[in-house]
Formats: sequence, structure tokens, C-alpha cells
Amino acid sequence: MKIAVYPGSFDPVTNGHLNIIERAARLFDEVIVCVMVNCEKKPLFTLEERKSLLKRVTAHLPNVKVDAHAGLLAEYAKEQQCCTIIKGLRAGSDFEKEFQMAMINRKLNPNLESLFLTAEHQYMYLSSSAVKEMGVYGADVSDFLPPEILVEFRERIRNIRNHKEA
Ligand code: PNS
Repeated sequence: MKIAVYPGSFDPVTNGHLNIIERAARLFDEVIVCVMVNCEKKPLFTLEERKSLLKRVTAHLPNVKVDAHAGLLAEYAKEQQCCTIIKGLRAGSDFEKEFQMAMINRKLNPNLESLFLTAEHQYMYLSSSAVKEMGVYGADVSDFLPPEILVEFRERIRNIRNHKEA
């Protein structure tokens, strides 16, 4: 059975992530979407909240499993007996960081291959960080997030805005 892990912060999952998940699900028998910690980011949602949002938006994909892991990706892949990491690649700026991560992961687990799916053109510049920033400034983000998570997203952003104003 061909298994791939698609790791990320998913804070929150965007339509761009969902597009990569759907395409990966057509290529592999099973895709494990794993919510992980990116030490460089301060998350809006907890690991468990992000996992629950992802479960909701991938409910229509029978071969997609959602998990969360707070340790190293290379070790997680080994535990899952998985040799393939899926990543989405957007505009040029992603390349250097992703290349570095692929090298590190392979050093930590030599059996691991990183496979990159290029973003669809409409998601080329989409990121969770940009969506959060748009949300904080009151922009409509409904083109960028799956409809099933819009209510939670708006609620969380409202809490942040109220907290800042208080
Ligand atoms: O969506 P992101 O924030 O670009 O995803 C990055 C992520 C979470 C996949 C990356 O930070 C990661 O793999 N974190 C787990 C810890 C780890 O294995 N770090 C070593 C790779 S440099």
C-alpha cells in the first residue's frame, strides 16, 4: 500500500491545502495529513483544533486520514512506515525553505522522499498567514477558506480583535 504524509501547520487549512490533499489522494492509496509544529509560527488554533478542522473539510475523502504530531516529521514518517512526504510548492519563495527541509528530513531518515505538487494558479499566492492577516483587518476571506470552517475562523479572529482593543 502506497502511503504519503502531507505535513504542515494548517493554521487554518486553506483551499490551497485542500487542493493538494485532493490531488495527493488520487496518487496514493492513503494520505495522512499531519498537523505539526512550526517553531517559527505562533498559531491561531491549537494542534487539536487544526486537526478537527481538517477532519471536517476532508470528510469526503475516504483514503485521507488526519493526525497531529508535535515531534519531528522524519520520525513520524518512520513510525507510520511511510517513505513519501508530500508538499505543496507555491511561487518561487517556497523553494529554498522546502529544499532545506527536504534535505534535513532525508538526513534524519534516509528512506524518505519529498514529493512536491505545484500549486494551482489560483492558490499560487495563498497562505494561512495571509488569510489571517486579511481576517484581522476585516477583509472577506470566503474565497480562500473551505466554507465548513468559516464560522470558527471568523469567531477566532473576532476574539483576537476584541482582545487587542480591550
Ligand atoms: O505549513 P508549514 O508551516 O510550512 O509546515 C512546516 C512544517 C510544520 C511541516 C515543519 O515545520 C515541520 O516539519 N515541523 C516538524 C518538526 C520537524 O520535523 N522539523 C525539521 C524539519 S526542518
